[in-house]
Amino acid sequence: MFYLLFSVIAYLFGSFPSALIIGKLFYQIDIREHGSGNLGATNAFRVLGVKVGLIVTILDILKGTVPVVMVVILAPELQPLIVGGFAVIGHIFPIFAKFKGGKAVATSGGVVLGVSPVLFAILIGSFFVFLKLFKYVSLASILVGLTAVVTSIIMQDIPLIIVTCFLAFFVIYRHTDNLKRIKNKTEPKITWF
Ligand code: G3P
Repeated sequence: MFYLLFSVIAYLFGSFPSALIIGKLFYQIDIREHGSGNLGATNAFRVLGVKVGLIVTILDILKGTVPVVMVVILAPELQPLIVGGFAVIGHIFPIFAKFKGGKAVATSGGVVLGVSPVLFAILIGSFFVFLKLFKYVSLASILVGLTAVVTSIIMQDIPLIIVTCFLAFFVIYRHTDNLKRIKNKTEPKITWF
């Protein structure tokens, strides 16, 4: 019963379309009609600039972290990672944005942050390493998803292994178009790093 309650709360948290709300509220821009059209932090950076990009990144991370921390504090008998998974599902399929959301990266990071700040720090570090090497945010995001799985295996944390596999699957699945663009050499590279 508690799982249902917290999972619904997590899904609603995840469904909050930060990039859409901020774009519309402060800039009268529907981010879905610009850049990659994705409702995520990368497209917010691309379309609305660094300040908004950072705000959307933080909000999207918190969408994963807050429900997980709520479970840790209010219902320690539950597995917070299961609830966190619903926040990510909300981010990808948001009820408040016609079920077309982001690519699972920042909110998955937020879930990891809620249970293992150390793993989160490792993933942030690897993200910038992959970004420096390949210059594609999308590829760096996918590789970070895989790094999360490998690191969880090294940590021998079974729930974390299961959930990072699930999150990495979503991250890869949601980046199908990016992978096609990388193959066709039409995916934009970052130039600032
Ligand atoms: O986090 C999403 C990022 O990996 C790719 O975003 O807008 O370039 O498709 P975008």
